[in-house]
Parts: sequence; C-alpha cells; structure tokens
Amino acid sequence: MSDVAKHYENLLARHYSWMVGTAFDAKVAEQQALLEELGVHGEGLAIDLGCGPGYQAVALARLGYAPVRAMDSSEALLNELANNSKDLPIERVHATFAA
Ligand SMILES: C[S@@+](CC[C@H](N)C(=O)[O-])C[C@H]1O[C@@H](n2cnc3c(N)ncnc32)[C@H](O)[C@@H]1O
Repeated sequence: MSDVAKHYENLLARHYSWMVGTAFDAKVAEQQALLEELGVHGEGLAIDLGCGPGYQAVALARLGYAPVRAMDSSEALLNELANNSKDLPIERVHATFAA
C-alpha cells in the first residue's frame, strides 16, 4: 500500500467529508455547475480517478454519463460513494494508481 493510501486509511478518509465543509448534495451541485460551464455533458463511459466520496462521479452521472467508473484507493471513501450514489449508474473500483 502506498504512503498516500495508508494516510487515507489511517486518518484522512474518516475526516475527509466533514473537512470539505459542504453538504454532499451542495458540493455535487457545485461540481455539476462547474462541469456544465466547461461544456462537459454527454453519454457513455466517464472515469473519475481519485473519486473520494463521489462529488464529481455523481455530477457526471447526473450529466448523463453511464457508466461512470469511479476509482479510488480508499475503500472507506468508496463505501461513502456507495451510500451517496444509490440508483445512479456508478461502478466503484478499488484501485491504486502508480505515481
Ligand atoms: C483530494 S481527494 C479528491 C477526492 C474527490 N475527487 C474530491 O474532489 O473531493 C484525492 C483522492 O484520490 C485518492 N487517491 C490518492 N492517490 C491515489 C492513488 N495513487 N490511487 C488511487 N486513488 C488515489 C484518495 O484516496 C482521495 O480519495
């Protein structure tokens, strides 16, 4: 396990969402507005690398992408994403990317 993954597992993952300081739905709305401003909308596969609790993954699914493949090395944050993304076409992948 990488040092980053260990840090998330041992400390950061359980504090991440409250540290963001914004309720999940408000943060998704913010990210969705940003993606829309950038002209991001569509269909088919989207990949969210380092998805955390899923702010961008959920925004991408709401913008029409399916499936959204949400990848992260933190199982705890992927579990939060599972709770945050019921009924959306989001596939969670537990994986660590090489730096
Ligand atoms: C700063 S957070 C961003 C999370 C989310 N996208 C957001 O905007 O709040 C970085 C995320 O990347 C993940 N991450 C960091 N290094 C990684 C790696 N090498 N492989 C997979 N995930 C990684 C962490 O577990 C964490 O969820």
